[in-house]
Amino acid sequence: MITGGAGFIGSHVIRLFVNKYPQYTIINLDALTYAGNLENLTDIDKQPNYRFAKANILDTEALEKVFDEYDVTDVIHLAAESHVDRSIVSPLDFVYTNIIGTVNLLNTARKKWKDDYSKHLFYHISTDEVYGSLGDTGFFTETTPYDPNSPYSASKASSDHFVRAYHETYHMQTIVSNCSNNYGPNHFPEKLVPLFINNIITHKPLPVYGDGLYTRDWLFVKDHALAIELIFSKGRSGETYNIGGFNEWRNIDLVKLLCSLMDQKLGREKGESEKLITYVKDRPGHDRRYAIDATKINKELGWKPSVTFEEGLSETIDWYLNNTEWLQHVTSGSYQNYYQSMYANR
Ligand code: NAD
Ligand code: DAU
Repeated sequence: MITGGAGFIGSHVIRLFVNKYPQYTIINLDALTYAGNLENLTDIDKQPNYRFAKANILDTEALEKVFDEYDVTDVIHLAAESHVDRSIVSPLDFVYTNIIGTVNLLNTARKKWKDDYSKHLFYHISTDEVYGSLGDTGFFTETTPYDPNSPYSASKASSDHFVRAYHETYHMQTIVSNCSNNYGPNHFPEKLVPLFINNIITHKPLPVYGDGLYTRDWLFVKDHALAIELIFSKGRSGETYNIGGFNEWRNIDLVKLLCSLMDQKLGREKGESEKLITYVKDRPGHDRRYAIDATKINKELGWKPSVTFEEGLSETIDWYLNNTEWLQHVTSGSYQNYYQSMYANR
């Protein structure tokens, strides 16, 4: 069972598992919040080994029903509230889903798997943001102390600790992986890359927070999905794996690269999209720099990214340009209200 499979990363993980493992039944458990979109899965949702269960991870009864109905053997847990800016506006939503929802799911797995934990794996998908912020140098390793700064990262850190505690206390088999910023197709246009692609297409301002010198470590979403599949099949219980592409970009440099690629692809004059760049008020508690040391997953499991940043970004832009209907569907309605409330006072 994969939770959050209708979201950005989850949909790529579902696709990979459904295609790679015809002998397994893959259950996508998702509450379909604003971020869940079943249009992300239209290419595989008729496959005989795919099932969708609309359920909230806060709903114990619903979880138990799904575990019983499908005899769930393993869980890959991605369902979460994932946007930092939303966590600053509504921290409790993140406490409920990311902390209580995860503990609820752990409790259900514990109850249903109690006869023999050695046959089951609870694999929790987390983020590099739990490690806090780096200075100009250094990397996050698996032993970097947790130091979360946003309500989002604090909630993810808490959920990671609970997963670890269930391994130590109840001897459940668990794994946690902490990944850096993903980009790619099906990314909801509230996050930097898809928001800016959409704004460039529609000639809207590109709101760069603060001085634009914040640094993120970008990984193509399909490479994250491949890492998850590898960790699920070959990772060691009780371990943490950091995932990242050694691919750091200052926000402003990334935005300028995006502008230049988009100008070429849209046949616009060189420099046209850069004129849309607008510096706006900074995000409170904004982490200055993230950078993942992915040596452990590389050495232990042989994983490394399969595409360069230029290849991944080009594929991403092409996907958005070829899927305007998807973009129109997600940018209509409630998303527009959210956009107004988030940017009106910047
Ligand atoms: P997303 O916001 O695109 O998708 C989240 C999914 O979870 C949606 O389909 C939503 O409907 C579902 N969901 C939310 N609350 C739920 C609930 N209470 N019950 C059931 N389903 C619920 O998120 P994403 O960007 O795909 O991230 C997936 C996971 O990966 C998250 O746990 C996130 O913390 C982690 N992560 C994300 C990134 C990134 O760059 N996006 C990087 C590292 C780790
Ligand atoms: O590092 C992994 C994390 O990456 C994941 O755990 C989160 O779920 C995911 O949302 C992402 O968090 P970030 O906060 O890094 O991503 P976001 O796309 O929101 O912002 C990327 C950078 O761009 C960050 O420095 C803030 C900045 N930014 C973002 C937006 C939305 C802007 O300058 N302007 C914007 O409008």
